[in-house]
Amino acid sequence: MTSADTPLEVENLRKEFGGLVAVDDLSFEVNSNEILGFIGPNGAGKSTVFNCIMGVLSPTDGSVYLHSDEITGQDTHETVNQGLARVSQESNPFEEMTVEDNIRIFAVSNSPFAFSSNDDEEVIRSLARRMGLEDELGTLPDSLPHAGRRRLEIAKALATEPDILLLDEPFAGMNQAEIRDLSEEIRGFRDEGITLVVVDHNMRGLMQLVDRVIVLNEGRKLADGTPEEVADDERVQSAYLAGEV
Ligand SMILES: Nc1ncnc2c1ncn2[C@@H]1O[C@H](COP(=O)(O)OP(=O)(O)OP(=O)(O)O)[C@@H](O)[C@H]1O
Ligand SMILES: [Mg+2]
Repeated sequence: MTSADTPLEVENLRKEFGGLVAVDDLSFEVNSNEILGFIGPNGAGKSTVFNCIMGVLSPTDGSVYLHSDEITGQDTHETVNQGLARVSQESNPFEEMTVEDNIRIFAVSNSPFAFSSNDDEEVIRSLARRMGLEDELGTLPDSLPHAGRRRLEIAKALATEPDILLLDEPFAGMNQAEIRDLSEEIRGFRDEGITLVVVDHNMRGLMQLVDRVIVLNEGRKLADGTPEEVADDERVQSAYLAGEV
């Protein structure tokens, strides 16, 4: 069941790849304006869940609801237009285009239905400023450091003006200072009313950031609670080797 104030809900989601069950009867909801952590080891099914939500993959079974409307298998573009954006695990900018043009492609006013595109430049500039890329607008993505490429992906997602943002391993490959800075940005997104789901391998980096954590293991939900509750959960502890979570 869904309710009007549930931004995103997944019900009995199942995804098979041939004989492999990557996601197995998974149900969860994302509450309004929370930062939800979504953790699990390699191959747990985290990215597959995001791909099913975004319509990049068709679920084998189950449903996805966005603000109570069913969007299961819906065209990705339409879902993005409805305010749900996702930053993929891999950065995939157009390498032959500048940082500025990469952001511009996703700017809402770029849509053929937009009233005017006059505000584009200011929007792009402020997104770049926000993500620490204001001096890199004319740069090609390949010249950015790893953290900069990840920040560009976030700027692209923000350009679609989401009210829900899914971040797949945003901290991967970042150093402690970069993780701290990005965590601060993510808190800022929430303060502006964006609801967030943040994927990571382990909870160490997420403990201070998230309100709630869902642990996924072999496609199934193992635990769902506050970071403290989940860290204390015996099933979580026994599913992970000591220190992993
Ligand atoms: N397109 C695909 N075709 C076949 N198998 C796939 C496909 N995508 C994912 N899988 C398999 O589904 C399982 C879940 O993969 P998924 O990428 O969702 O895990 P993950 O939790 O995101 O892992 P990681 O932490 O490594 O990113 C894995 O066994 C993976 O090999
Ligand atoms: Mg993944």
